[in-house]
Amino acid sequence: MTDEDLIAAARAAAGHSWSPYSNFAVGAALRFADGAVVTGTNIENASFGMALCAETVAVAKAMADGRRGGLEAIAVSGPGPDPITPCGRCRQVLYELAALGGTDPEVLCVGPDAVHRIRLSVLLPAAFGPASLT
Ligand code: THU
Repeated sequence: MTDEDLIAAARAAAGHSWSPYSNFAVGAALRFADGAVVTGTNIENASFGMALCAETVAVAKAMADGRRGGLEAIAVSGPGPDPITPCGRCRQVLYELAALGGTDPEVLCVGPDAVHRIRLSVLLPAAFGPASLT
């Protein structure tokens, strides 16, 4: 699974977005050390505050399947002209899974033309995580 494949998976995942309230479809794809890819998309609700972000859905899917670490790369694709970065809550949710395996995944922020690459540790410096509770 190349970076281009991961980007394509994030874009494809946005096709399943349930976002009739924001009309802002987001797709996310997580790549793991064993080569597996887990995708997510944003799921909104008539009770607006219940919306789930694409990255959080992807992490929940992966962890529900038993994954604990091994997170190497993340692609996030939004509908706008510019790449989007994960929201603050998603950064924290992504960090939990990454920290469990001791990785610092590269985040590929995907726009229609450009891809920005930023390490999760740059997006969320001095993170609170599992080790903070010991
Ligand atoms: N959204 C995501 O899925 N991921 C982010 O990192 C930022 C925002 C979603 C939430 C909501 O459904 C829509 O984008 C507009 O905020």
